[in-house]
Amino acid sequence: AYYTWIDRETCIACGVCGATAPQLYDYDDEGIAYAHRDNNKGNLKVDEQDHEDMFDSSDGCPTESVIIKEQKET
Ligand code: F3S
Repeated sequence: AYYTWIDRETCIACGVCGATAPQLYDYDDEGIAYAHRDNNKGNLKVDEQDHEDMFDSSDGCPTESVIIKEQKET
């Protein structure tokens, strides 16, 4: 299983993740991204059908702020 969230300390609001995977990522008023399904907690399993978009978002993020882990964030 995969879990994903955004490192909001390093996100520079480039906008790739929410364009690539709007089902997973959105932006706050400042354009800083967050994983909207679990309020950026990284504790909700990502559906298999969303894995490709999730990895594409991670690959496309210029600051490596799209975090993907195989374990829940605690
Ligand atoms: Fe931020 Fe990276 Fe998304 S810079 S807006 S987390 S693609």
